[in-house]
Amino acid sequence: MLTNDQLSQWDRENFFHPSTHLAQHARGETPSRIVTGGSGCHIEDRDGNRLLDAFAGLYCVNVGYGRTEIAEAIAEQARELAYYHAYVGHGTEASITLSKMILDRAPDHMSKVYFGLGGSDANETNVKLVWYYNNILGRPEKKKIISRWRGYHGSGLMTGSLTGLELFHKKFDLPLPQVLHTEAPYYFRRADATQDEAGFVAHCAAELEALIEREGADTIAAFIGEPILGTGGIVPPPTGYWDAIQPILKKHDILLIADEVVTGFGRLGTMFGSPHYGIRPDIITIAKGLTSAYAPLSGSIISEDMWSVLEKGTDENGPIGHGWTYSAHPISAAAGVANLKLIDSLGLVENAGSTGAYLRGLLLEALGEHAHVGEVRGDGMLAALEFVADRDSRSFFDASEKVGPRVAAALLERGVIARAMPQGDILGFAPPLCLSRTEAEEIASKAAEAVRAVLG
Ligand SMILES: Cc1ncc(COP(=O)(O)O)c(C=O)c1O
Repeated sequence: MLTNDQLSQWDRENFFHPSTHLAQHARGETPSRIVTGGSGCHIEDRDGNRLLDAFAGLYCVNVGYGRTEIAEAIAEQARELAYYHAYVGHGTEASITLSKMILDRAPDHMSKVYFGLGGSDANETNVKLVWYYNNILGRPEKKKIISRWRGYHGSGLMTGSLTGLELFHKKFDLPLPQVLHTEAPYYFRRADATQDEAGFVAHCAAELEALIEREGADTIAAFIGEPILGTGGIVPPPTGYWDAIQPILKKHDILLIADEVVTGFGRLGTMFGSPHYGIRPDIITIAKGLTSAYAPLSGSIISEDMWSVLEKGTDENGPIGHGWTYSAHPISAAAGVANLKLIDSLGLVENAGSTGAYLRGLLLEALGEHAHVGEVRGDGMLAALEFVADRDSRSFFDASEKVGPRVAAALLERGVIARAMPQGDILGFAPPLCLSRTEAEEIASKAAEAVRAVLG
C-alpha cells in the first residue's frame, strides 16, 4: 500500500480539485483528507479517523455509507451489461424500471424523465428544453430564465449563471445575458428589518413582478428555484412565499422549474419538496438522492403539458437533438433502483422528518439563546446555524473573520463534519436520512461545544 505521504504528494502534483483554493492546496497549506471507507453516517480516513458525516458528503449519501444492497446491484449490472446507450429508443431493464419508480413517486401531473449524470447537466437540459418548447410554440423571444440570488443550480455555463452566488460568477464572465436574478426568499437577511414575514413575501412577489414587467413577459421563459434554498444558506421559504410567486408566473405564462437536487427523495420528510411547499412545477430536477451518490445520475422530470409540446416538436423537426453518451447509464440506473427500494424499506422519508426535527430541536435548545447565533433553522433533515456579530442589531461578522469556517473546523476537531456554507457565516447540516437519535444528540452537543470554543 502507498504511504499517505506519497499519496499526498501525488495529490498536490496531479489532482485538480473542485471548489478548492488551488494555490494553497498545491503548496500543501490546506488540510486534505484521503477517505477510505464509510458505514452508516460515518466515514473513515487513512489517518485512522472516524468522523460523523453530518453533511452526507455533499447532501447526497441519503441512505448512508456502506449499503451492500446498492453495491451488489451495481456489481450485478456491471457483470451483466456495463453499458449500452439510450439513444433512439434503447433502454435496459434498470433504466426503464427506474423511470417508472420515479414517476410513481413524483406529483401526478408529471409525465416523463430524462436521465443525465449530475445536477448541473440536468439543469442545462432543462433550459434547453424550455427554449425548444417556446420555439415549438412559436415564441422565439421568450427565452430568459429568472433565478434567485443565493439559489444554487450547478456550475456549468448556464447553470453557473443560474446560481446566484458571487463566487460562481467572479472571473468566469458569468452570468450569461439570458439569466436574471431576483430577491432571495431569505427573511432573516431582509434589507428592511421592520418588515414582518407577510410583508417580506409581498416584497419578494413585487420584486419579481417588477422584473417581469421591466424585461417584458414575452421575453421570459422560466423561473427556477429550489423549494428550500440549499447552498445559499439552508433557508426555508417564508410562509406563503410559493403561494405568492406561482400566480405571478402563471399570469405571465412563465414555466416553473423546481430544482429538487437536494430535496428529491426524502430530505424534507416528504418524497419531493414541491408538494411539501405547495409547488406545482413544470420540470423537476433530480440528482443526489436518486442514487444516494453510489453512482452518478440525475434527471429532468417533465410535466404532461410540456411533454405534449416536445412530442409535437419532434413530429415537426425530427428526433430531439439532445443526449449524453451516459444518459440513463445502466450501472447508475441499477444503483437508483436499489436505492429507492432501500429508502422505502428503511422508512427513510419518515425518519428524515422525525429525526431531522429532533436534531433541530436539540440545536435550538443548545444554541438558540447564544449571543452570536442569530437563527437556528431548517426543515426535514436539513438544519443551519447562522452566526451574527450582534443579535439585536442583526449585524454580521466581516467575511475576513471566517467565523463559519472556524466553527466548522472546531466541530471537525470534535469528529463531526458540517459545512461552512459559501456565502455568510452559516453552518449547514444535512446528515444521511438514516441518522439515529443518538447521532443527532452527538451532532448537537459537539456543535454547541464548537460554537462556544470559537465564539465564547
Ligand atoms: C439544488 C442544486 N442543484 C444543482 C446542483 C448541481 O449538482 P451537481 O453538483 O451534481 O452538478 C446542486 C449541487 O449541490 C444543488 O444543490
